[in-house]
Amino acid sequence: ASTLQSAYEAASDSDRNDDEYANVNWDELGFRFMPTDYMYSMKCSLGDEFSQGKLNRYGNIELSPSAGVLNYGQGLFEGLKAHRSKGCDLLLFRPEENARRMQIGAERLCMPSPSVDQFVHAVKQTVLANKRWVPPPGKGSLYVRPLLLGSGTVLGLAPAPEYVFLVYAAPVGNYFKEGLSPINLLVEEESHRATPGGTGGVKTIANYAPVLKAQIQAKKKGFTDVLFLDSVNNKYLEEVSSCNIFLLKDGVISTPLTHGTILEGITRASIIEIARDLGYQVEERLVSVEDVIDADEVFCTGTAVVVAPVNSITYKGQRYHYNVGAAAVSTMLYNSLTSIQMGLVEDKKGWTVHI
Ligand code: COI
Repeated sequence: ASTLQSAYEAASDSDRNDDEYANVNWDELGFRFMPTDYMYSMKCSLGDEFSQGKLNRYGNIELSPSAGVLNYGQGLFEGLKAHRSKGCDLLLFRPEENARRMQIGAERLCMPSPSVDQFVHAVKQTVLANKRWVPPPGKGSLYVRPLLLGSGTVLGLAPAPEYVFLVYAAPVGNYFKEGLSPINLLVEEESHRATPGGTGGVKTIANYAPVLKAQIQAKKKGFTDVLFLDSVNNKYLEEVSSCNIFLLKDGVISTPLTHGTILEGITRASIIEIARDLGYQVEERLVSVEDVIDADEVFCTGTAVVVAPVNSITYKGQRYHYNVGAAAVSTMLYNSLTSIQMGLVEDKKGWTVHI
């Protein structure tokens, strides 16, 4: 609270209008960056532990051109959302899971990472300091983006000697331009997102730029996004650029088994649990492209994406369509998940963290 207090004191009176909303057209939020008031930062030397983070005004950061993250991609990110409930509480969804995932990624990339408590504290502080940017109930959420970067200088390939943990936030609405309407995916047949033994299973920044080429080409052809297949057999589903994938066939839900090449989505894990609680059989297994062609329903899950119904998947020039709409299982799963996230129902799972 003291760091928050000093950051508030550093702000001018007009910035400090805690109870009011920022000047945003809440009905037109998409998933676009918008600068907010504060960001959190904390530093650490290699071999040391993070300590003494603080809030600063949102702004550019200074990095040496030879920072490890800029030269060798030593960086991780996370994404989580804060919702404003009807009672105007601020709710985070499973932030400890993001903290743990960052720790696993940091171990993979030889970086020190914040403790779970430090991570969650930083996220809470960032949300509180940017409270006026949390959309009104039902209009969207404040997307929180923690970053862990090798900020120290390197020339030869080695772990950076210094690290920075940053948290910033921006108000968001729906991820896809389709809004909540069903999306159209193209199976990517040439490039792959991840390889066995690589880093596909952790949230390294380096997993995302390699996706852009296929994504841009697919968008030019009118598709929403691309679906990647495994790099060994070019046959088993992995994930979409920014989300995990599920299918439903004869009442059974399946999703690709995460075995190092697929991101361990927190929304993915939550949907598996919610579906099982609702009585569905959920299988984590190898899911082939033939399985998806034959499915009754397909949907994507992710923090940014939430639960996105898939209207069609195109593979080798053939388009396959799926059930969507109010009666779809994905609609029910979307409603169950978002009611917990928005505080509309009792959270029996203990997933939400009130700030
Ligand atoms: C998220 O869903 O939070 C992500 O990090 C995916 C990103 C590409 C927006």
